[in-house]
Amino acid sequence: MTKPRILSGMRPTGKLHLGHLIGALDNWVQLQDKYDCFYMVADWHALMSEYQDPANIRKYSLDNVLDWIACGIDPKKSVIFLQSDIPEHLELHIILSVITPLGWLERCPTYKEQLEELKAKDIMTYGFLGYPVLQAADILIYKANAVPVGEDQLPHLELTREITRKFNNLYCVNKNKAPLFPEPEAKLTRFPRLLGMDRRKMSKSYENAINLSDSPQEIKKKTQSMFTDPKRLRKTDPGHPSECNVYNYYNAFKAPNVDQIASDCHQAKIGCTDCKANLSDFLLGILKPLQDKRNELMKDPDYVRKVLDEGGQKAKAIASATMKDVRKLLMLK
Ligand code: TRP
Ligand code: SF4
Repeated sequence: MTKPRILSGMRPTGKLHLGHLIGALDNWVQLQDKYDCFYMVADWHALMSEYQDPANIRKYSLDNVLDWIACGIDPKKSVIFLQSDIPEHLELHIILSVITPLGWLERCPTYKEQLEELKAKDIMTYGFLGYPVLQAADILIYKANAVPVGEDQLPHLELTREITRKFNNLYCVNKNKAPLFPEPEAKLTRFPRLLGMDRRKMSKSYENAINLSDSPQEIKKKTQSMFTDPKRLRKTDPGHPSECNVYNYYNAFKAPNVDQIASDCHQAKIGCTDCKANLSDFLLGILKPLQDKRNELMKDPDYVRKVLDEGGQKAKAIASATMKDVRKLLMLK
C-alpha cells in the first residue's frame, strides 16, 4: 500500500529557534515513517515580504536545511527541496489565481494580520495578496493528502481546500471526469506555546529567541536574561511556576524533574538565578547532539546543495507530471 503524502514548508526568513523545534520540526521528524513526506523551503513566499534583501533568503535557505537535517529530517526518507527549483509551482499558481475570487483573499484573516504586523516592509502588493494561492499550488502540485501546520496556517489550508473544490468542479466533475486533486487535510500540530526570553511572541525581529545554532555562551546569556515569575521579587518569596516563562521551558521540553522544580520554586528552595543556570544546562544538553551533527554536516560545504538537488529532482518529476494533467484539462496543450 502506498503511504499518504504530506507536504509542509517553512519560509527562510531567519535562523531557526527552539519554537521551530517544538512547533514543527519534532513533528516533521515523527511523520517520516508513516507518510511520504515532502519538506519545502518556501523561498518565493519569503520573497513576498523580504524582497528588499534577497541575499538573506538564499543564506537562510541553506542554513535552515542544515538545521532540519541536524534535527533528524532524513534526506533518505523525505524529499527536501527548494520551492524556486520547481518553476511548475508558478504555472499552477497562475491557473489557480484565475479561479480564486478576490474576496476570498481579502477576507483571509492572516492577510490583514500580516499587513499590520509587517507594516515596515511595505507588502501592499499584488504578490502578497496571492500568498495563499501560491501555498495552494505548493500543496496541490504534489497531490498532498495532508499538511502539518500550526494554528496560524489554518486559514490558508481552508482556502486551499476551497480552491481545490473549485478546480475539481470546474475542470473535472462538471466534465464527468474524476477529480484531479485530493482535498488536503490540515494536520494540526498541538504544542505548548513558547514565548521569547522577554515573554513576547518569539520573533526574529525582536531577537528574543534561542536559536538552534546558538553557541553555549549565547544560550547561557539568553537564559540569564529571561523574565521569570513577575510576582516573585525576593529569593525568599514563594514562586509561581505556572506563571514563569523559565518553568514553561522546562515543561515544554519535558524535563524529567519538572515536578521537583515546581515544588522547590513554590517553597522558595531555589532562586531564579540558579534555576535559569540549570535551564541553560538542560537546553544545552538538548541542543548538543543537534549541533554536533550540524557541525559534522558543515564539513562538506556542498552538502546542503546536494541534498536540495536530489530532492529537487524527485519533486520535479511529480510536479511536471501533475502539470501535464492540468494543461490537458484546461486544453492548454
Ligand atoms: N505559509 C507557510 C508558513 O509561513 C509556509 C508555506 C509555504 C507552507 N507553502 C506551504 C506550509 C505549503 C505548508 C504547505 O509557515
Ligand atoms: Fe521561575 Fe525557576 Fe524562578 Fe521559579 S525558581 S520563578 S520556576 S525561574
